[in-house]
Amino acid sequence: MLAIVVLAAGKGTRMKSDLPKVLQQLGSRSLIQRVLDTASVVTPDRKLVIVGYGGAQVRESLGTDRSIEFVEQAQQLGTGHAIQQLLPHLEGFVGDLVVLTGDTPLLRPETVQSLVAVHQQRRAAATVLTAQLPDPTGYGRVFCNQNDEIEGIIEHRDCNEAQRQNRRVSSGVYCFRWQDLAEALPKLTNNNAQKEYYLTEIFDYLDLVIAVDADDYEESFGINDRIQLAHADEVLQVRTRAKWMKAGVTMILPSTITIDDTVEIDPNAILEPQTHLRGDTKIGSGCRIGPGSMITNSSIGADCQVLFSVIEDSQVGSSCRVGPYAHIRGQAVVGDRCRIGNFVELKKATLGDRTNASHLSYLGDATIGSQVNIGAGTITANYDGKHKHQTIIGDRTKVGSNSVLVAPISIGQNVNVGAGSVVTEDVAANALVIGRTRQVVKPDYYDRSGERNSK
Ligand code: UD1
Ligand code: CA
Repeated sequence: MLAIVVLAAGKGTRMKSDLPKVLQQLGSRSLIQRVLDTASVVTPDRKLVIVGYGGAQVRESLGTDRSIEFVEQAQQLGTGHAIQQLLPHLEGFVGDLVVLTGDTPLLRPETVQSLVAVHQQRRAAATVLTAQLPDPTGYGRVFCNQNDEIEGIIEHRDCNEAQRQNRRVSSGVYCFRWQDLAEALPKLTNNNAQKEYYLTEIFDYLDLVIAVDADDYEESFGINDRIQLAHADEVLQVRTRAKWMKAGVTMILPSTITIDDTVEIDPNAILEPQTHLRGDTKIGSGCRIGPGSMITNSSIGADCQVLFSVIEDSQVGSSCRVGPYAHIRGQAVVGDRCRIGNFVELKKATLGDRTNASHLSYLGDATIGSQVNIGAGTITANYDGKHKHQTIIGDRTKVGSNSVLVAPISIGQNVNVGAGSVVTEDVAANALVIGRTRQVVKPDYYDRSGERNSK
């Protein structure tokens, strides 16, 4: 049997925030969510999370996953004290316990799997994931014999100057034989600089403890403050961009591009500078995205161009041209071969294929057919101050420039709306509709010097 526990009870004083540290966001997911996602890939028999500071908030943020067992650590007296809280919960449990800290978001599932494999092969009482860090400041230093058997872990604060020169650190990720750990847990003391019960003291009471270096030391980064949070973000961005470039995505000035690790990009897409792809976003092949675009929770079909635009929670078909300066949001659905141009906002609007809105429009709560032309400055007036109303426009209809369509309204297929119309009543198919005052011309109204003619 395998259990995984995630330590998440600490406040994270060094973050200088009321938010529990493990709820800090890193690329659209919280630190703890990332650690739990890693844990889930390993498919343990049991998954536990130790909560304390802001416990209700942490539980709520992980809400829907019913496989998590929450364990309360009412007072945060150290990482060893946190693990002591497991004793009643894991009574009678036979197997290995993997301990993860909620602030190690860069850890990969493969690394946890290989830690468990080495632990079981070597029949160790405990196995510690270690790393050789260029700057080990703040981490517990790991001291081993020649066989990578651990003789002790000393926290940074408790090290003397010579001990601090050791760059081999504990990542805070461990695999324990549970029965051995359970027996040793009551022996922990708080005889140290912080007067806390350190989990790292446990290694003094276990027989065979081995150290395994992570292949990629960046995986073991613990996030204690905002400088480390920003650094983790950089590491993640470098990783994610490299993955997509290897998969055939072109990036121009990649260091200016940010991509969440939840995004998917087809080969032969081109990302221009200052492009930001977030959340559950998919980009089709042959797209050219950017410069200067931000796409969140949206899918973009193949061969689209999105220039200086913002797209959120929406779908765009293939071969569309979007921007510059378009805003597509609120579950908008755009068909194939459409053009959404300068300063056009779509909100909860569905557009058929080959429909164009090229300039200066707001189209909200609208269902618009295919091959429709929306003239410059057209507005759907969807809000009466209390409720939102629908606009329906049929296929091949042409809406003249600067028209206002006052919803609820339905305009049939193949209609021509005269420019500058305010349309307040439904229009049947094939009609010409003009809703504006007739032009008045008064000849010879002024004399040559611009004065009004007396009449
Ligand atoms: C810890 C390790 C250190 C290791 C480093 C790796 C100890 C004593 N030190 O130090 O050896 O190099 O991680 O990142 O274990 N937590 C609780 N309850 C508590 C205290 C902490 O649940 O009472 C949780 C925190 O929420 C956090 C994790 O344990 O997720 C680690 O605590 P933190 O204070 O960040 O430990 P470090 O000082 O970084
Ligand atoms: Ca830490």
